[in-house]
Amino acid sequence: MGRMGSSGGGAVMVVAVALVLVFGNALELARSEEEILKIWPMPAEVRYGQRQVYLSGEFGVSTEYADGSGILKDGFNRMVSLIKEDHVVVEANLSHNSLLLGLHVLISSPNHQEQLQYGIDESYKLMVPVPSPGKPAYAHLQAQTVYGALHGFQTFSQLCQFNFKSKVIEVKMAPWTIIDQPRFSYRGLLIDTSRHYLPLPVIKNVIDSMTYAKLNVLHWHIVDTQSFPLEIPSYPKLWDGAYSTSERYTAADAAEIVSYAQKRGINVLAEIDVPGHALSWGIGYPSLWPSKDCQQPLDVSNEFTFKVIDGILSDFSKIFKFKFVHLGGDEVNTSCWTTTPRISKWLKKKGMNESQAYEYFVLRAQDIALSHGYEIVNWEETFVNFGKKLNPKTIVHNWLAVGLAQQVVASGLRCIVSNQEKWYLDHLDTTWEEFYLNEPLRNITNLNQQKLVIGGEVCMWGETIDASDIEQTIWPRAAAAAERLWTPYDKLAKNMRQVTGRLAHFRCLLNQRGVAAAPLDGFGRSSPRGPGSCYIQ
Ligand SMILES: *[C@@H]1O[C@H](CO)[C@@H](O)[C@H](O)[C@H]1NC(C)=O
Ligand SMILES: *[C@@H]1O[C@H](CO)[C@@H](O)[C@H](O)[C@H]1NC(C)=O
Ligand SMILES: *[C@@H]1O[C@H](CO)[C@@H](O)[C@H](O)[C@H]1NC(C)=O
Ligand SMILES: *[C@@H]1O[C@H](CO)[C@@H](O)[C@H](O)[C@H]1NC(C)=O
Repeated sequence: MGRMGSSGGGAVMVVAVALVLVFGNALELARSEEEILKIWPMPAEVRYGQRQVYLSGEFGVSTEYADGSGILKDGFNRMVSLIKEDHVVVEANLSHNSLLLGLHVLISSPNHQEQLQYGIDESYKLMVPVPSPGKPAYAHLQAQTVYGALHGFQTFSQLCQFNFKSKVIEVKMAPWTIIDQPRFSYRGLLIDTSRHYLPLPVIKNVIDSMTYAKLNVLHWHIVDTQSFPLEIPSYPKLWDGAYSTSERYTAADAAEIVSYAQKRGINVLAEIDVPGHALSWGIGYPSLWPSKDCQQPLDVSNEFTFKVIDGILSDFSKIFKFKFVHLGGDEVNTSCWTTTPRISKWLKKKGMNESQAYEYFVLRAQDIALSHGYEIVNWEETFVNFGKKLNPKTIVHNWLAVGLAQQVVASGLRCIVSNQEKWYLDHLDTTWEEFYLNEPLRNITNLNQQKLVIGGEVCMWGETIDASDIEQTIWPRAAAAAERLWTPYDKLAKNMRQVTGRLAHFRCLLNQRGVAAAPLDGFGRSSPRGPGSCYIQ
């Protein structure tokens, strides 16, 4: 299988030669900027030249920044090892013209503003000069915050390549000036550790891979109907709802994930989805269920339900320092409330029907989150059912309706866009082109309303995802969305053929960095169709 018979070989050769002629010409003609620049996501402004410079053997970071927590230095060291890609590198020295001694990093914010938080300045300016022979020099990176500098490192790493002839690291097309900042301040990826447990190293690998595409929020959908893997010290039986004793995260594990992400410029948005999607809570505390036979949504009539939510969010506030917490609120089927006599009696006493009880539940959970200092993200059903009642600081998370963002921002609330037919990674038949072309500001023309769309998020729901396939299901399609969320609107490609080569290059880069990104060519996480170069698959 797969080997050409000798009789067919000649004809195939002829066709191949003809193709080379045709495409060779086309490539010459279409040597556009897109094909030369191999940076993903595309920066806001790029200028470049035609010279080659080399990284010195002592390539190091120079800075006056008081790097107390080591974020800058560690980020720099990670960048250098990414650049080397595990090749045995020969260290360039003065015998090479145009030697770069290192990267000089200037960070202008006072150090106490280093706290990673929503809306932090992520801009940077990167300059790679062409040093004269015998006069090595530094490249320059300027940023307002250390997190902007980390993005600058990622961009610099994509300018570098290993030269297989001289075995040194080189930067082609110098001098470079890159001025860059994200279009949206929220650029998220959802992982789901309820439908399948994801081991800690897997989550850390996902976080690392997110930095390569400049995503900045890991939305951690921790618990759901199927399992409750996280330790909640206030209610220690909640994680009885884990699949097994080992498929769990301690509170300290969660804190470690948050810290790991934070050092890489990524915030963690923790989610508890209430009152639906919470059956697993009742394994440890059955009184949270309406009844043994009707187990969700959480019992709205029971004060204990809200005590538990308060305990969880109190514990969260010690671990998840992001300004926002996600309270879910989607797909609530209230039939257990009306069919359970105890609860239906309670509803009558309170003068509420089931939809009013759903609203009561969501708003009460919002108040609890606010009391712990959080602003709230809720899935869009809460907006559709009682949008006017939501706390004005609520961020509505779109997933169902196309065009929902338009209604949300017209009502004055903020919105995160994740419309499922374009940005759900578990929809394997959604192509990278569709991910790329999904525009969060579609049909929103008013500038003030545009600002209320804080960004978007691609969602990696976990029903058919575990450690064995998560990376190739996320990548490269998440990267297509990442460019939509990072790059200025007028620099985004309209014709997908313009970016195919550059995205293929980024996918190969991910592979070189040990990320199991799937080929572009095919459905989500498809294997390669046959033999061939990474760059054309
Ligand atoms: C500089 O590098 C070249 C090429 O690797 C090597 O042949 C030469 O010995 C090095 N010179 C010094 C001074 O290290
Ligand atoms: C709600 O749940 C009940 C009981 O489980 C089920 O019979 C009903 O079909 C569900 N309704 C919807 C709209 O899914
Ligand atoms: C609940 O009551 C409100 C207010 O009277 C009403 O608008 C709504 O349609 C009712 N919902 C149901 C499911 O009966
Ligand atoms: C956006 O506007 C276009 C026309 O300008 C319209 O065809 C389309 O249906 C609108 N989309 C949404 C989601 O409202």
